[in-house]
Amino acid sequence: MGELTGRTVLVTGAGRGIGRAEALYLAAGGANVVVNDPGVQIDGGGGDAGIAAAVVDEIRTRGGRAVADTGSVTDWAAARRMVELAVAEFGDLHAVVNNAAIEINKGLERLTEAEFDDVVAVKLKGTFAVSRWAAAYWRDRRDEGVRTDRAIVNTASGSGLLNPLPTQTNYAAANAAVAAVTTVHALELRRLGVRVNCVSPSMVRTRLTSSVPGMRQAPPDAEPDLQDPRRVAPLVAYLVSEACPLTGQVLSVRGGAIAVNQGWARGAEVNKDGNLWTIPELAAELTALPLDDPFERLTAALDGALGVQGRDRLEAMINAELDGR
Ligand SMILES: NC(=O)c1ccc[n+]([C@@H]2O[C@H](COP(=O)([O-])OP(=O)(O)OC[C@H]3O[C@@H](n4cnc5c(N)ncnc54)[C@H](O)[C@@H]3O)[C@@H](O)[C@H]2O)c1
Repeated sequence: MGELTGRTVLVTGAGRGIGRAEALYLAAGGANVVVNDPGVQIDGGGGDAGIAAAVVDEIRTRGGRAVADTGSVTDWAAARRMVELAVAEFGDLHAVVNNAAIEINKGLERLTEAEFDDVVAVKLKGTFAVSRWAAAYWRDRRDEGVRTDRAIVNTASGSGLLNPLPTQTNYAAANAAVAAVTTVHALELRRLGVRVNCVSPSMVRTRLTSSVPGMRQAPPDAEPDLQDPRRVAPLVAYLVSEACPLTGQVLSVRGGAIAVNQGWARGAEVNKDGNLWTIPELAAELTALPLDDPFERLTAALDGALGVQGRDRLEAMINAELDGR
């Protein structure tokens, strides 16, 4: 018996990359897995039903239990059908792992309305839609007197939390919003016995990161592979497991490190109490505060990981990236 025997978990975007590794790991731990993935391209175009089916075949070949679903998380009715499929196939749904994402990276002045909407739809609306139908199902079960641990695991990104990146207006906005709804849903759903957490992977080798500086080929077998997509899976499995008490947490994963994210924190303050500020007063007082410079912050973050040296070098890289396209 695995640690997850008897749990049924729906993983969105489970056909490739991190989601695929999660589905395989969950199934190896004994979970019944709904492998959702329409098999689209990085930008959301196209589709291939064989992508989800291949993961299901892999799980079944190893003796696990899985079923494929090829609906899009952006489709309201399809999101409902994913939940219904889990219940029809395995008798219940214990957890949802919202993992699906696409990327269309462009500088703000070139980003189209559709490119903004499409990326936000998969990450943010998709997380909402699947969690919404799962929560409605869980509420009905609770009303019938069924008491059992349930869980949602959302997926955010450092681009949205600690280090929003240039060219990612759509992706960063959606990922930041996913962290916010993690808190909202943790607060709302505890009464239904549902825990809600979020993982934020970083520098994992998938098609999304193939052009990111610092990504490497898989090392020889004897060496630890810090960028392996399987790095995220044990944490997700723990978060959906019945014994896990965590809720409302946003946890960054990079290599072997898991860090608690603490979100926006209130910094230094000026205060005129009941009086209105004037513009000259603000000019004097706000510029005297210890302000966080976004270029310095990103330089510090990338320096360790990617060897970006210095704020000026970073700014030159951003300008070259945006004007070179
Ligand atoms: N790779 C990293 O280093 C990294 C870093 C930060 C965050 N993430 C997050 O991890 C998650 C997985 O990313 P990945 O790197 O494995 O990407 P990936 O492209 O390898 O896999 C994403 C999967 O989502 C599927 N998908 C796309 N649109 C969908 C839709 N509408 N409905 C259902 N499925 C859909 C795709 O077909 C694809 O198989 C994403 O949420 C991503 O934002 C990844």
